[in-house]
Amino acid sequence: MIDNVNLADAFGQVSEAWRPMIAGDINDFQVKVVKLVGAFHWHKHDIEDELFLVVAGRLRMRFRDRNVEVDPGEFIIVPHGVEHLPEAIGAECHVLLLEPNTTLNTGDQRNARTVHCLDTIAARGRTLNTKGPNA
Ligand code: NI
Repeated sequence: MIDNVNLADAFGQVSEAWRPMIAGDINDFQVKVVKLVGAFHWHKHDIEDELFLVVAGRLRMRFRDRNVEVDPGEFIIVPHGVEHLPEAIGAECHVLLLEPNTTLNTGDQRNARTVHCLDTIAARGRTLNTKGPNA
């Protein structure tokens, strides 16, 4: 069923920092939601470009030659092959990711934060809709 996704609800289902959850599929791309706390690890993706859209909090994207700070309502695209290190500014940052479904969160690195199989957020709207428009 085609349905809307509420971002506040989606982020409410994310319980672990740095563990993205799938919020939708667009052909070979995926929309993911992820909570950032502190700093990640240096990595790159040999093939995939990644879009980071900041929904809440602030993001510092560190590159080898400079840092870019990304505010809510802004996004940054990290091209494939470019080393990057995302970092939350402040306590926590909520980020919507748009990237190919082959993208591994830690890229060319393997560590304790590597997640090979992502969970999908529950579509709460579907449950409501089964009762019909007059429920
Ligand atoms: Ni990355």
